[in-house]
Amino acid sequence: RSDSQTDYYEITMRKAQVEILPGKLTEIWGYNGITPGPTIMQRTGRQSVVRFINNSLGTPTSTHLHGMASLPEYDGYAEDLTFPGYYKDYYYPNNRAATIWYHDHAIHATARNVYMGLAGMYIIQDQTELDLPLPKGQYDVPLIIQDKEFATNGSLIFDDQGQKSQFGDVILVNGVPWPRMEVARRKYRFRALNGSISRSYRLALNTGDPFIIIGVDGGLTPAPVEVNSFRFGTAERYEFIIDFSKYPIGTRVILKNRSLPNNLDYDGKTNDIMCFDVVRDEADDSSIPSQLRTFTPLLASQAVRTREFRYERTNGQWVINGKTWNANRVDGTPQFGDIEIWRLYNNGGGWFHPIHLHLIDCQILDRNGRKPFPYEVGWKDVFYVGENESVRVIGKFGPNTGKYMQHCHNTVHEDHDMMTQFEVL
Ligand code: C2O
Ligand code: CU
Ligand code: CU
Repeated sequence: RSDSQTDYYEITMRKAQVEILPGKLTEIWGYNGITPGPTIMQRTGRQSVVRFINNSLGTPTSTHLHGMASLPEYDGYAEDLTFPGYYKDYYYPNNRAATIWYHDHAIHATARNVYMGLAGMYIIQDQTELDLPLPKGQYDVPLIIQDKEFATNGSLIFDDQGQKSQFGDVILVNGVPWPRMEVARRKYRFRALNGSISRSYRLALNTGDPFIIIGVDGGLTPAPVEVNSFRFGTAERYEFIIDFSKYPIGTRVILKNRSLPNNLDYDGKTNDIMCFDVVRDEADDSSIPSQLRTFTPLLASQAVRTREFRYERTNGQWVINGKTWNANRVDGTPQFGDIEIWRLYNNGGGWFHPIHLHLIDCQILDRNGRKPFPYEVGWKDVFYVGENESVRVIGKFGPNTGKYMQHCHNTVHEDHDMMTQFEVL
């Protein structure tokens, strides 16, 4: 249903039996009974109202649209629970073009709920971006990458005991294990989302050819960036072009996970993610402009203060600045419109933490005092903080006031309890 400014959607969360592995049924918890949930496509300048109905899950939910500057009451606050048999209407302003996603955020149960299937993509477009000659339509393809572990009977194995990260040995892309996609000899745009609950990847192509990065969490990058591989933390989005015209028909291009044995998330079980089979010639009228968007960087000199956040494990808990989650806890009260620098610090112990801020997009100023990786440009809302790394990010607080969460997006860490909140005054 739509009116002049608003589009209305209804999404029912329910359990379903689906065939993921051939010949086996897997119980999932899905938005509209599917996982990933339906992709919502929206335009800037229009509002969405999504009614999320908690039908038969038997557990409370809270739905967060990750990457949207929603008002606090529609942000999927971890303790704003919708119980089975109830629904909640969420209002979304669609303030800028980007590839974002919705997922469950229920307190202490996010990892399980997302793992069981409660995640979906949400794409916002604007006219400026649509006017660019980038690949469109069927050549603009979402890739939601998740790892799962299955029992022999097909059921999903989730074990939250010991607060350990969950690394599955089967990679699903858009819900399909190790899929194969037929492609034409032309350019494609891919919108990759790491929807895994713990695993980070290093994406690369078996051919050694580069990805042309054109977008990150908060939308298009200022200009295209060519990289041979990139680190891909949980909840991050990277958009890239692969130009298949350089391969002869019959070529199989494999999207690989090149996490290395010295990486914390390496287990050697998930080296292949999916493959592209080049099957036909096709005219290609798309191109990649050398400038993708106008971009005004925030400067460190504009910041009115710096805040420090330390992510670590102490006394059997994941903590931020020494403390677990508490709804009364507020770490940081930026004034509306203030530009601040946040220094995110992981003091080691054998873990990496993809840190996520709700509400705002930030730029990375530096990583361990050096320039960020070439692909970490533009507006981001997840910042991969590796062991002993210190990442400084800069952002402007708005467009809303109120309390918003920040947390590690390894959702197992988030649940136990590497999460706090800030309040924009
Ligand atoms: Cu994607 Cu607070 O979450
Ligand atoms: Cu978020
Ligand atoms: Cu973490």
